[in-house]
Amino acid sequence: MTHPVAIQFRETDPAALAAREGAIALLVDPGAGLGAAGRRLDKLARGALSRALASEAWGKAKPGEALEIGYPAGLAAERVMLIALPRRAGVEQARKAGAAVAKGLGPKGALIVAEGHPRAAEVAFGLALRAYRFDYHTAEKPGFGPVEMMVAKPEEVARRAAPHAALAEGVFFTRDLVNEPANILTTDDFAARLAAMQELGLEVEILEEAELERLGMRALLGVGQGSASPSKVVVMQWKGLPEEEDSCGVARPVAPLALVGKGVCFDTGGISIKPAAGMEEMTMDMGGAAVVAGVMRTLALRKARANVVGLVGLVENMPDGAAQRPGDIVKSMKGDTIEVINTDAEGRLVLADVLWYAQERFAPAAMIDLATLTGAIIVALGHEHAGVFTNDDGFAHEVLKAAKAEGEGAWPMPLTPAYDPLIKSRLADIKNTGGRWGGSITAAAFLKRFVKDETPWCHIDIAGVALPPGETTLAPKGATGWGVMTLDRLVRERFEPKEG
Ligand code: BES
Ligand code: MN
Ligand code: ZN
Repeated sequence: MTHPVAIQFRETDPAALAAREGAIALLVDPGAGLGAAGRRLDKLARGALSRALASEAWGKAKPGEALEIGYPAGLAAERVMLIALPRRAGVEQARKAGAAVAKGLGPKGALIVAEGHPRAAEVAFGLALRAYRFDYHTAEKPGFGPVEMMVAKPEEVARRAAPHAALAEGVFFTRDLVNEPANILTTDDFAARLAAMQELGLEVEILEEAELERLGMRALLGVGQGSASPSKVVVMQWKGLPEEEDSCGVARPVAPLALVGKGVCFDTGGISIKPAAGMEEMTMDMGGAAVVAGVMRTLALRKARANVVGLVGLVENMPDGAAQRPGDIVKSMKGDTIEVINTDAEGRLVLADVLWYAQERFAPAAMIDLATLTGAIIVALGHEHAGVFTNDDGFAHEVLKAAKAEGEGAWPMPLTPAYDPLIKSRLADIKNTGGRWGGSITAAAFLKRFVKDETPWCHIDIAGVALPPGETTLAPKGATGWGVMTLDRLVRERFEPKEG
């Protein structure tokens, strides 16, 4: 369903401008004005560009924003886009500039005149991310035409753009999974797509219900017991580091980073059923698992020098005769008993067992879980930021820093013991809801109970950012793939050895 756009980098050739069809986009530093190719275009278009640059609209254009000239005389192009991009622009602004070109991209493609712009590769990446498409329309839609970029040093830009291919593929993998409807992306189908990643060098194991039962994952299994789709846990291992000698000279694998994802393929709410309005959105309730899958794909594609294990709990939350009831008490793999007050607070039940399993099996150096966990996080942060909860402020700082560098909104949320009494249960060790207030915090407090004190851990509630109601800068309406870029950067900066 994806339509990746391959971008050709080539040397600036002013003679090719007059005949170029489709769109011509020019990166213009508002402080510096037109370059050689721009002046040539301006001349062909009889001064249309310099008039546009003198306009009030151009004066208001922020970095990454475009001013369009339609059907300019003297050119074969349908439109010329002047894109404001200072030479000192940041990564986010450069990607936004590329996205502006992608938005109007048609069958005739586009030519971007970047000349010696230092952010040319980031512009290309922004274009690729925004040119993603996903739908089941049966009418043929014209594809995207060729995209070329004129730059001063094509080889150098191509070299800097190369790592973006693995990242874009991871983001698209995540978006496809989130956009896919639940009749197609069943737990079986999801697991099969993950198993296919073995081709990339990932080790993938699928734990089926009998095995989960044996492990004592009754919290996770309870959620899926009303569904015709079998519950599963999928473990994906990327081993990018050689073993290290311990103090006794014995070779041991380096402890991995563990990524854990909520993979509720559809969330009806179960017996505590959700209202009909908007329920169709709950095809995205596997968004956390999709981010974990996308990151693992990127790490494998770029052969990351880090040990990372991705674990996803795949279930479907359905009401039927076998479904879990409000009031049921289940025993988690950890051994703690849980009173299920509301079957719609299912994500935390799934994560409780997968978090515990991840720690028991891998003793990770750090652990991050991602989940479309609560509507309350959308009340708190809207669709602009994911909520970050932690037991280790230093580790959370690294995660927030990576998110900021990638332009993905993330904001710290509190997680102190003050919230623990809200999830005390009269009958069991803990209950799965904490009442009306602070809903995303009591959810995080629930998860914290399944995290060992010695494991640096972040919980990221992505309910608001996985599938926002409209388009975003780098994604058309639908799934964003939020988090893949952040986690890839975190792995690079925090878990891979420095070059040299
Ligand atoms: N999957 C939902 C959370 C959600 C809501 C994700 C909106 C994306 C958009 C989760 O399983 C859920 O139903 N949470 C409940 C918890 C409540 C019953 C304590 C909620 O947020 O209402
Ligand atoms: Mn729910
Ligand atoms: Zn859910």
